[in-house]
Amino acid sequence: MNETCFSRRDFLKCAGALGVLPLSTIEIAFADPQKNFTFAYISDSHIQQIRGTEFVRNWDRGLIRAVAETNLLDPKPDFVMFGGDLAQLGKKEELDHGGEILSGLKYELHCVLGEHDYYLDLGEYWSKLYGPHYYSWDHKGVHFITLNSILTYDKWIHGPWPNDMQRMVEMAGLDNPNGSPFLVGEKQRTWLQKDLEKVGKDTPVVIFSHSPIQKIYKGWNFWTEDADEIQAMLKDYKDVTVVYGHVHQIQYNQIGNISFNAVMATAWPWPYPQSYAQAESHLPKLTIPMNRADPFFERDATGWQLIDLSNGRVAMRYNLYNNTNRTVAYNPATRQPEDKMYQSSAAQIAPQIHF
Ligand SMILES: [Fe+2]
Ligand SMILES: [Fe+2]
Repeated sequence: MNETCFSRRDFLKCAGALGVLPLSTIEIAFADPQKNFTFAYISDSHIQQIRGTEFVRNWDRGLIRAVAETNLLDPKPDFVMFGGDLAQLGKKEELDHGGEILSGLKYELHCVLGEHDYYLDLGEYWSKLYGPHYYSWDHKGVHFITLNSILTYDKWIHGPWPNDMQRMVEMAGLDNPNGSPFLVGEKQRTWLQKDLEKVGKDTPVVIFSHSPIQKIYKGWNFWTEDADEIQAMLKDYKDVTVVYGHVHQIQYNQIGNISFNAVMATAWPWPYPQSYAQAESHLPKLTIPMNRADPFFERDATGWQLIDLSNGRVAMRYNLYNNTNRTVAYNPATRQPEDKMYQSSAAQIAPQIHF
């Protein structure tokens, strides 16, 4: 497994010809090319019902496009991940409508639970569609784990809400002080500990979560309260990568042996939170999702990623519709993900993809 090697193939040329698509494609390459495989990643569609059978068209279009273009990938991905927040307010109509769009995928689908899917009925209907809230599986030498990272304290869940929809709305707000920090929780941490016991320390581990398993910015819930405890469970593994949605933007980080890479949304982009600013921030208070970051570009800051897992580490190509493409990859010299433009070895710069 340690001899995992990286060989990028231009397998998205077909999809690329169609323009931008908000999904990730991941290639895991081994020394034995017959073991190579890819998978795609789509996230944060926020399908939103207006009334009856009427849904927010822009959010629909983002997911429809991702599904259509994923189906065109060549070579075909082994499976597709959906990263959570399929619905906007967890309604049956939204989950059904989103599920109907996802049913167009020609591949096996694995799903992560997002807070927008959960806080209306605590994941009950979502489970009927997609099964357990956390699980793991092995695929061609890689151990994959999906966590439900958007739980919170029982006291808040069963708090003073007049009804379940009010609870959902309170958690759905990006900067709502009435929200509550996300948690993986003790029960799931115990399960994770047991699950990891059967995994060799040299086996690449890839974790999918909705909120980041790190503490980025509490004010917007770009935060998982028990992230430190989960990171500690993973510290003895050679290659660990956490891929997460929720933040609707490009993010990457390295904590100890763990690489963190965010994916973009198919719905709207969030701006970078205040914690990124070195100086005092004058970011206005945000209360509603943005339809667009730049009114002249409908899809500004949404896009898709091409992700390679090389030696257990992610190299992520961000393909932005209205911005310069970027590649963020693990740099073995500095042992952290970095923008390839700033890595010293030109040999490590991934091949460019031109559309
Ligand atoms: Fe989201
Ligand atoms: Fe979310």
